[in-house]
Amino acid sequence: MKRQAWQRMSTFHCRSSIAYCRVSSARSIVLIGFMGTGKSLVGKVLEQRTGFRRFDTDEIISSKLRMVIEKIFSTHGEKHFRELETETLLSLPTEEPTIIVTGGGIVLRSENIDLLKGLGAVVWLDADEATLRTRIDRLSDRPLLQTANPEATLSELLEARQPLYRSAADLRVDISQKNPEQIAELILKNISDFPVGE
Ligand code: S3P
Repeated sequence: MKRQAWQRMSTFHCRSSIAYCRVSSARSIVLIGFMGTGKSLVGKVLEQRTGFRRFDTDEIISSKLRMVIEKIFSTHGEKHFRELETETLLSLPTEEPTIIVTGGGIVLRSENIDLLKGLGAVVWLDADEATLRTRIDRLSDRPLLQTANPEATLSELLEARQPLYRSAADLRVDISQKNPEQIAELILKNISDFPVGE
């Protein structure tokens, strides 16, 4: 997508197949969603497809502290990690359209939701619980799932977070049985199909 075309967009609507939405002042594409929904990979495809710079909040925090996320949780605790997430959002550029990839818990702070909305179009990558469970089983390094009963923890986290993702999102994309290219394609199609309110 041409950069100027994207920048001209001040409003767009999404198609009914993708849930709901109306957004103003769309600039960046912001990916949110539960762990295991493939936000990082989709972000990389979007980066290639648009030519926009990509910022991944987990990567930024990790490289700033020179620690993997699990180590940050075990050393500094979740509260500190959440503060770093807010700090990171505040540090992102606002003068150019970008691709922003976030960690699954970024929506836990309401101020983050406001910041995400201010950055651009918030796209929620979502799937049913069974799909998420299978995907997360393959990627078992998540600090929040290191509990006595990870299955129950996952259900609890999901239940608590679904309303937050819903309230933050301009667009919801069901990622089940889709690869990152197909998801990125769907996102771009549903954004760029809509004419641009000038
Ligand atoms: C978290 C999700 C992780 C990472 C951290 C906390 C969460 O990111 O930010 O482990 O609270 O759900 P992914 O969503 O990329 O797994």
